[in-house]
Amino acid sequence: MTDHLTIVTHPLVQHKLTLMRDKNTSTGEFRALLREISALLAYEVTRELELTTRAIETPMQEMDAPVLKGKKLALISILRAGNGLLDGVLELIPSARVGFVGLYRDEATLKPVQYYCKLPEGLEDRLVIVVDPMLATGNSSAAAVDLLKAAGATSIRFMCLLAAPEGVARMKEAHPDVPIVTAALDKRLNDKGYILPGLGDAGDRMFGTK
Ligand code: URA
Repeated sequence: MTDHLTIVTHPLVQHKLTLMRDKNTSTGEFRALLREISALLAYEVTRELELTTRAIETPMQEMDAPVLKGKKLALISILRAGNGLLDGVLELIPSARVGFVGLYRDEATLKPVQYYCKLPEGLEDRLVIVVDPMLATGNSSAAAVDLLKAAGATSIRFMCLLAAPEGVARMKEAHPDVPIVTAALDKRLNDKGYILPGLGDAGDRMFGTK
């Protein structure tokens, strides 16, 4: 993947995203849509997985057929909203290992502080896909990637539903080697760090909290 930012413009993704943005969409519908859209985004984020061939016999003849080369994968969810993207990705890649990173924002310093981290072993040999629906300021995403690199990860992608230009710029500055896949690049952040037009608080909308 060479582009730093890939926007998945597929009509199914765009249609589902519009339903998710609508404030009248229920929690149950929002969660189901998130699962579906995450599988479609996973399709894009894994586009360049390496293939090899295996000799098989079809009912007609022998052939060397493409199969995945078998690079191991790790999905890393940024708590808590990242969890909404896990199931859809795991449907496509059931054998992926899953890790969790929890960060909160210190209101005095405005810096992300880690409160939870549980990562799969052998990150250095894995393609690591970080999932978080909203790339807003990019501070927690950049901090999560810092942490993954410190744990040995060298091949990292970031998958989100919506990105703000501020978050994309922050990630490009901090981690130019980490390609981002998103369903849309929105206009800007408001003064509370929410994406406009956005879809509100992704965690609240998927879990029905306020
Ligand atoms: N996190 C959210 O859930 N929504 C935003 O708009 C920004 C960050």
